[in-house]
Amino acid sequence: MCGIVGYAGPQASAPSSRPVDVALQGLARLEYRGYDSAGVAVIDDAGVQVTKRAGKLANLREALESTTATGGQVSIAHTRWATHGAPNDLNAHPHQGGRDGELAVVHNGIIENFASLRAELEGEGYTFSSETDSEAAAHLVAREMEQAGDLTEAMRRAAASLEGAFTLLAVHRDAPGTVVAARRNSPLVVGLGVGENFLGSDVAAFVDSTKEALEIGQDQVVTVTADSVSVIDFEGAEVTDAKRYTIEWDAAAAQKGGFDSFMAKEIHEQASAVADTLRGRIEDGALQLDEMEIDPSVLRSVDKIVVVACGTAANAGAVAKYAIEHWCRIPTEVELAHEFRYRDPVVTEKTLVVAISQSGETMDTLMAVRHAREQGAKVVAICNTRGSTIPREADAALYLHVGPEIAVASTKAYLGQIAACYLLGLFLAQVRGNLYPDEIAALMDDLEQIPDQIQQVLDSSAQVEQLAQDMKDASSVLFLGRHVGYPTAMEGALKLKEIAYIHAEGFAAGELKHGPIALVEEGQPVFVIVPSPRGRHSLHSKVVSNIQEVRARGARTLVIAEEGDDAVLPYADEVIRVPATRTLFAALLTVIPLQIFSCELATAKGLDVDQPRNLAKSVTVE
Ligand code: F6R
Repeated sequence: MCGIVGYAGPQASAPSSRPVDVALQGLARLEYRGYDSAGVAVIDDAGVQVTKRAGKLANLREALESTTATGGQVSIAHTRWATHGAPNDLNAHPHQGGRDGELAVVHNGIIENFASLRAELEGEGYTFSSETDSEAAAHLVAREMEQAGDLTEAMRRAAASLEGAFTLLAVHRDAPGTVVAARRNSPLVVGLGVGENFLGSDVAAFVDSTKEALEIGQDQVVTVTADSVSVIDFEGAEVTDAKRYTIEWDAAAAQKGGFDSFMAKEIHEQASAVADTLRGRIEDGALQLDEMEIDPSVLRSVDKIVVVACGTAANAGAVAKYAIEHWCRIPTEVELAHEFRYRDPVVTEKTLVVAISQSGETMDTLMAVRHAREQGAKVVAICNTRGSTIPREADAALYLHVGPEIAVASTKAYLGQIAACYLLGLFLAQVRGNLYPDEIAALMDDLEQIPDQIQQVLDSSAQVEQLAQDMKDASSVLFLGRHVGYPTAMEGALKLKEIAYIHAEGFAAGELKHGPIALVEEGQPVFVIVPSPRGRHSLHSKVVSNIQEVRARGARTLVIAEEGDDAVLPYADEVIRVPATRTLFAALLTVIPLQIFSCELATAKGLDVDQPRNLAKSVTVE
C-alpha cells in the first residue's frame, strides 16, 4: 500500500543527488507496493513546493520537468493507494497544511477521527482542498507548529490526538533541513547514511544508499536532519533503545535481473529461496531454531495451534496444518486473520498462534496477533521482513530469508512460508518428543533435496509456458486437489485471479460432487494436483477418480503428477510432471507450474504482471 520516502541531505546542486531525485528513486523502489498517484514536496527559498500527479510515477516525473521547484535539503514523497477520495491529482500526497501552505505531509494509514478534526480545523479557518483524511493531519500539525514553534513538538502533539493508523512525515518552511515523522500501527524505518538520512515505509526505499537501518517503534516520533536522528515517544520522553540493524538484502535483489517481470524472476529464485530458509537450521543432527525464544516448557504445554494469515500466507498456513497435525498431534486451525478476532475465538495460555506474513505489516494479521496476545496466547511470527511490526510484536519470529519480494503476487515468499512452517512443525515435534531424532533427520534430509527438485521443475517450465500461451483467452479455470493439494489448488486459483483477471476457483477435489461439478461443461479447463502414488493409496486413487469425474463431463484435464505416475495417463489431456517427494513436501513443488502458468498467461495478455489492478503489496489497513 502507500509508499513513503523522506530524505535529509546536503544542499546538492548536481542533478540526481538533489533531495527531489533521491525521493523519486525511493518511490521507484516502492512502486511494487501498489499505488494510483504519486507526489513529492521539497523546501526552497520560496517555501514548500509540492508536485503531485494521478497515475504512474512517469506522470510525476514529467510534471517535475516543467518546474524549477526542486531545490533544498529535504524531500518527502509518497505513492498513494486510495482509501478516502478518488485517485486524482488533488487527493494525491503530499498535502499542504497551515494558513499559508507552510507545511507539507505525506501519510500512510487511515485517520479514524478525521471528520471531527476536519470540522474543528475548518471552524478555525483552515481551508481544505482534498477529500482525504490526510489533509486534516496536515492542518493539525501546522496548527500545533504555530503554537509550539518546533516541528518535532508539533508532530508529537498532533500524533497524540490522531486516532487510527498512520505513518506521517512532515516538512515545514521554518525548518528547511528537517523531516519529522510519527508512526502508529503503520510501517516506518530510518536509513542511516553518512551526511544524509532517509525515511521509508520499508528498507527498499533506501537500500541502494545505505544498509544501516533504525527501527521506529509504535507511537514514536523521529526527527531527521542530514547528520542527526533523534527519537521520542508520544509522551515526549527520549527513546534511547531504538534498535539499529544492518539490512541483509542486496540492492540488486530488487532489480529484474533480465526477467520480464519481478514475478518471473521471483518464481525462478525459488530453489535458492527455499535453500536459504532451510540453511543453518540443523546442528549436530538436531533442528536448531535459535529464534524460537519461547520456553520449551511452554511449547510442551501447547494444546492447540491457530494459524492466522491472509491470502497466499493463509494458503501456506493451510499446508502447515497438514504437517503440524501429522507430526505433532496438536489440533491446528487455520483462520483468515480478519475473521479471527470478530468471532470470539477460544484462545488460552496453552494456545500457540502462528502468524504468517511476508510483509510483517498486514493490518488484519497484526490485529489478530494483538488479540491473541491479549488472551494470553504465545505468538510465533513467520515473516520475511526484518524490523516489521508483526515479528516485533510476536513472542518469537522465524524469518524466511527469501530476499525482498517485489511483485505484488507472492511466489517465493509462499514457498519460504511453507518451508518455515515445516521447520516449526518439526521443531515442535522435537521439543515435545512426538518424533524420534532419526525420523526428524530423515524428514530434514528429504526437505533438503527440495531446492534441487524445485530447480528441476523450473528447468522444465516450457510445457506450462506453452499451455499458458494457448489458454490466454480462457474465461474460467478450476483447480482441484486433496490433502496439501487442496491449498495448492487455492493458491493456483488465487494467482490466476489476481494477475490474469480470469475467473478461477480452487476446490478440495472431494467437494466437487457436492456442488461445484455443476460448473463443468465441455472444454472447461481443470487443473488437478495429484498426490504421490507412493503415499496413501486411497488418497491417490480418489484424486484419479476425481479426474475421471470431470473428464466424463467434458473438462479439459491438466494434471500435475509425480514422475512415473502412469495411473493418470488415461484421463489427462496434459500431464505436467514434478519430481517424487513425500506427500507433505509436494506442496513445495506442485504449486510452481501453477505460478508459471499465471505469470505467463498474464504476460501473454499484455497485463502488468507485477502490479495488478486494485492490489497492493502490503495491506496496511483493515
Ligand atoms: C497474493 C498475495 C496476498 C498476500 C496477503 C498477505 O499473491 O500476495 O494474498 O499473501 O495480502 O500478505 P502478507 O504475507 O504480507 O501478510
